[in-house]
Amino acid sequence: MPSPAHRIDNVQPPATIVAGDRARTLALQGRDIIDLSQSSPYHVTPPHIVEAGMAALRAGLTNISSPRGELEFRRAMARKLESYNDLQVDFDNILVTPGSKQGLYYSMNGYIGEGDEVLLPEPTWVSFKQQVELSQGTPVSVPLSEEEEYCLTYDALQQRITPATKALVINNPNNPTGRVYSVQELQAAAKIATEHDLLVICDETYEYFVYGSGRHVTLASLPGMWDRTLTSYTFTKAYAMSGWRLGCIVGPQDLLEPLRKVHEHTASFVSPFVQAAGTAALDGPQDHIEEWRLDCESLRTVVAARLNEVAGLTCTVPQGATFAFPRYSANHSSAELAMSMIEKAGVVVTPGSGFGDCGEGHFRIALMRSPSDRVLEGTDRICRFFESLQG
Ligand SMILES: Cc1ncc(COP(=O)(O)O)c(C=O)c1O
Repeated sequence: MPSPAHRIDNVQPPATIVAGDRARTLALQGRDIIDLSQSSPYHVTPPHIVEAGMAALRAGLTNISSPRGELEFRRAMARKLESYNDLQVDFDNILVTPGSKQGLYYSMNGYIGEGDEVLLPEPTWVSFKQQVELSQGTPVSVPLSEEEEYCLTYDALQQRITPATKALVINNPNNPTGRVYSVQELQAAAKIATEHDLLVICDETYEYFVYGSGRHVTLASLPGMWDRTLTSYTFTKAYAMSGWRLGCIVGPQDLLEPLRKVHEHTASFVSPFVQAAGTAALDGPQDHIEEWRLDCESLRTVVAARLNEVAGLTCTVPQGATFAFPRYSANHSSAELAMSMIEKAGVVVTPGSGFGDCGEGHFRIALMRSPSDRVLEGTDRICRFFESLQG
C-alpha cells in the first residue's frame, strides 16, 4: 500500500470529531445524548439569508465566481470591517474562502514551510497545530497560565522566540478559554511581532461574542499591525452558516497573494449563491446576533456557578466566545473522561487535550451547540457524573 507523505505523520483528527462519532452511534441506538461538543451553533441560518441564497440559485448563480470573491459581497464585507472592526479596507483586501478554516490553512500554507516555527498561545483551537504540521512547519506552544486567566504577556511570547520564529497566531476571543484580549495584551503581541518581524494570523471567529464590560479589539487596527496581519472571519457562528462554508481573510493585497495562489489551485472560488447569502447576512438585520450573544452571556454564568458547586471542578466565567472550559482534579485523562461522560451521563464534551498539552485536565462545554435548556440539563448531568466520581 502506498505510504502517506511524512507531513501527515503528526496530524491528529480534530478532538471535536472523535467523541462526536461515539455519541452519534449511541444516539442512533436511541440513547438521549446531549451534544455540548462542537462549536457550530444549534440555530439555523436566519430565513432572509436562506431566501437570498435560494433567490441567487433560481437566478442562475450556480456556476463559477471570481477567485477572490464577488465584488458585491466583498464591498459589503469592507463596510462591516470599517464600521465594526475599525479597518479602512478596499475590496482588494478581502479574499473570500470556503469557510474560515480553509482561509487559515491558506495562510499557513502560503507562509509556513520546513524549519519555520509558529507561536501558538495555548490552550489553542484544535486545528492551528495540525495546520502548521500540514504546512511542514513547527508548532511552538506558548503556555498561558490558567491562574492568570490565560492573560497573553510579552514575556510568555518572548520566551519562545528563536531565530526560526516566523509567525504568531492570535485567536481573539479565544476558543476554548473564552479569554478576550485587552488592548494592552494585543499591544504586547504587536510589540513582539514588530521586533521579530513576524507574520500575525489573527482569528476573530467569535468577535461578536463578548460579555460584561468587555470589548473586542481587532489586532490589525492597532498602529503598525495592518502590514503584517492576516485576519480571519467566518459566517459560521454569528449567522449560523456552518454548512454554507463561507469565510474570508483580510489583509494587505501583497500579503494575500500567496494565499490567493493556493486558493486558485485548490478550492478555486466560493459558490456565488453562497456569497449572495453572505451579502444578505451582512446587509440585513443583525438582531439575532445580540439574542444569541445574550443567551450565551446568561448561560456562561449559570453553567460556571453550577460546575463550581462540585468538589473537584473549577470553572472561570468566560469573558467571550461560546464555551466554558472547566478544570477537574480527577485522575483521568480528558479523553478518557469525555468518553466516560458519553457512556455514563449521555453528554458529549470536547476533551481538553485537543487544545494542546495545556488543555489536559480540562474539558470544553459548547454553550451554543444545543438549546439553553439542554445545555443546563447537560451541565447537571456533568455535575452528577463528577459527584459520582467523588464516591
Ligand atoms: C477559533 C475557530 N477558528 C475557525 C473556525 C472554523 O470555522 P469555519 O471553517 O466554519 O468558518 C472555528 C470553528 O469552530 C473556530 O472555533
